[in-house]
Amino acid sequence: MKTEGTWIDVALDGEIPNLGRKTINIEGTPVLILRVDNIYYAIEDRCTHEDRPLNEGYIEGNTITCPFHGAQFCIKTGEVKAPPAFVDLPIFPVRVYNQKVQVLI
Ligand code: FES
Repeated sequence: MKTEGTWIDVALDGEIPNLGRKTINIEGTPVLILRVDNIYYAIEDRCTHEDRPLNEGYIEGNTITCPFHGAQFCIKTGEVKAPPAFVDLPIFPVRVYNQKVQVLI
């Protein structure tokens, strides 16, 4: 995960409800913002199996399941949890600052 870069505003704090999601394109990269148990996560919205969007994936606990072929990833670490993907998902640091949700790019 990145530790240096630019913090980009992606939402107002509270705009995304708990268990909600929002996709935003940041400099050509689709980023999926998730709010689970009132913690925000940011993962690349592009499954590493066939580059399809994950934004309609089923979330259970810390795992998101790709709606296309069922690959699973940890939303905290991006780690692959189930095939057919075998490459981890890029993830991004998230913070709430001045009542805005920000992602480090
Ligand atoms: S595109 Fe996600 S599992 Fe195939």
